[in-house]
Amino acid sequence: MTQQDAAPGSGTHDGGQGDGPVPALRVEGLSRHFGSLKAVEDVSFKVRPGSRHAVIGPNGAGKSTLFALTAGALRATAGRVWLHGDDVTSLTEHARARRGLVRTFQHSSLFLRATARENVLLAVQRRHGVQAQPWRAVTRRSALVREADEVLDRLLLSHRSGQLAGALSHGERRQLEVAVALAAAPSVLLLDEPAAGMSPADTHAFQEIVLGLPPELTVLLVEHDLDLVFGVADHVTVLHLGRHLLTGLPAEVRASDEVQHAYLGAEDTSALFFEEQE
Ligand SMILES: Nc1ncnc2c1ncn2[C@@H]1O[C@H](COP(=O)(O)OP(=O)(O)OP(=O)(O)O)[C@@H](O)[C@H]1O
Ligand SMILES: [Mg+2]
Repeated sequence: MTQQDAAPGSGTHDGGQGDGPVPALRVEGLSRHFGSLKAVEDVSFKVRPGSRHAVIGPNGAGKSTLFALTAGALRATAGRVWLHGDDVTSLTEHARARRGLVRTFQHSSLFLRATARENVLLAVQRRHGVQAQPWRAVTRRSALVREADEVLDRLLLSHRSGQLAGALSHGERRQLEVAVALAAAPSVLLLDEPAAGMSPADTHAFQEIVLGLPPELTVLLVEHDLDLVFGVADHVTVLHLGRHLLTGLPAEVRASDEVQHAYLGAEDTSALFFEEQE
């Protein structure tokens, strides 16, 4: 165990900043520069416990970089991250995951030659500290397998559990990635473009899955599909050119001139964005 694994960040317990419940997640002054490029610059916002909180913004706005900083995969140039009130800024991604902050990856991390169930079981085993190798030796009735099957069921993948991950459709694979993340029993789940490349039908099914996740689980998702965003999110944060533009209720975000300009100045997402306003 490294010192980072053992130490609870800087030891401060100031994630709530006063009013209301302690945020599940809070970032303050978060920045990441790549040379002269300010990919993320001085971003601050809070995510309430149990929230379905979306992060949106045009391509290159800094969304994935923000997630990498939050998850601990990238070191911040400046700023801090709190998880349930604890400062986790100095913790590794692995240590943050053990504290409940788990993300899916934009590019698949599935074992394509293992079955859907084996992929989830591997994550369940990892969480329970069970040696991963002999997964085929685990009896069908074991508690770990039951746990894996419950997660597959939640992601509407029970009927595909015996299929190789490589044989699943694109949409099913994205669902399986969420299943693998859920198997780690997160309290805060970060989803980076979970619906990327999904058909409209798969995206709609995915929306139902997100809405059906346990209410105590906090979900932060980056997504370009604004129908999905406004179909699931109770709060929305908008990034633009690395900066935080606005965090608010979906209606506030839709009504914001600043947000409209950010989108109108980018690609033709405006039509999508204003679709339901008429
Ligand atoms: N490792 C890196 N090195 C250099 N520049 C990077 C690196 N990662 C990201 N960037 C740059 O930082 C900016 C923000 O990138 P990021 O991937 O966070 O945007 P994004 O909002 O996720 O975009 P998209 O919607 O296209 O996924 C972009 O200009 C990108 O080119
Ligand atoms: Mg991205």
